[in-house]
Amino acid sequence: MTNDAIPNLTAFDEAALDRAFASLAQQARDAAAALGTSEAIESFRLEWLGRRQGRLNEISSSWLKAAPPEAKKLLGQRFNALKKLVEDLLDQAAGGGPSDAALAAEAVDITLPGTRRLTGAEHPITRTLNEIVSVFAALGYSVGVGPEVETDYYNFESMNFPPGHPARDTQDTLVVANQERRLQRDRLLLRTHTSPVQMRTMESQPPPVRIVIPGKVHRNDAADATHSPIFHQVEGLCVDTKITFSDLKGTLDHAMKALFGSAVKTRFFPSFFPFTEPSADVQISCIFCGGKGCRKCKQSGWIELLGCGMVDPAVFAFAAGKQPAYDPKKISGFAFGMGVERIAMMKYGISEIGQFFAGDMRFLEQFV
Ligand code: DAH
Repeated sequence: MTNDAIPNLTAFDEAALDRAFASLAQQARDAAAALGTSEAIESFRLEWLGRRQGRLNEISSSWLKAAPPEAKKLLGQRFNALKKLVEDLLDQAAGGGPSDAALAAEAVDITLPGTRRLTGAEHPITRTLNEIVSVFAALGYSVGVGPEVETDYYNFESMNFPPGHPARDTQDTLVVANQERRLQRDRLLLRTHTSPVQMRTMESQPPPVRIVIPGKVHRNDAADATHSPIFHQVEGLCVDTKITFSDLKGTLDHAMKALFGSAVKTRFFPSFFPFTEPSADVQISCIFCGGKGCRKCKQSGWIELLGCGMVDPAVFAFAAGKQPAYDPKKISGFAFGMGVERIAMMKYGISEIGQFFAGDMRFLEQFV
């Protein structure tokens, strides 16, 4: 704070100026790094920037005045830089920012490998399910859901599986315990298919209806490469006046081409479901061999993919109990149901259905 803080400058060449200013800058930095209290900061300010006796003032009065004219510019530039440095140091200290020591303790070693955050992705079943739904949404279908714990009435009886009907045996499931006192139709079970949501939909709205219903279903099936006691289906229902089997064929042919590529062909084989009449199994030309015959299609050139048919009048009769407009003499409709796992397995070349539910990251990461 006195003249002795500012040495006499005897040489004014660039190197001498650089040395003199570098030494001052270092002193300022060292002093600033040690600043803790606001009093210390204020005395640092006075020491360097004080009007009367501040060091910068000293420099300008003693060095600048003594400098030969040709050195004044060089000296002035360095003076300004030092002043700026002191002001910045003050700003930092006054800002209450962490000290250099604190910063060093927190410093991140940017040469270490970082922590990679995993990118989430849709599960392949969710992705396939959404893809199927969006094919039908583009045709104007709405999307619905229904309960997974369902009554015997919706899952079976209203879908035209009367009590004791042998078709029930093909869809064995888990039932909720201790319901013996309830009527059979009210007993709860884990739904075996998404078809009961057809009935729930019709009961809640008059025709016309175009809806797809994705969801989880349950069966008492032994697990093997292609069977799982839990799986997913997408159900479809279309009801209006004058809906025909041609509408069903055209709709599903389009959907299969949208899902598997425009080269895919479809064919409809007679089948049986209690809730459709006539019923059909839809086969698509083998997407692996193009129909020539291979191991995947058991040399037939065709792969069976879903069930469908014209809604049975008996099903409409159940719906008409709540919505009289479902008069089988006045309206008609088609329905279909497809297994999401089966379609996903074909699309992604997966041979074990259990992979979908095992939670193995090595499997799931392939779908990121
Ligand atoms: N619910 C049948 C099943 O799970 C699939 C099905 C077949 C649904 C034909 C339908 C249909 O709507 O018309 O096996």
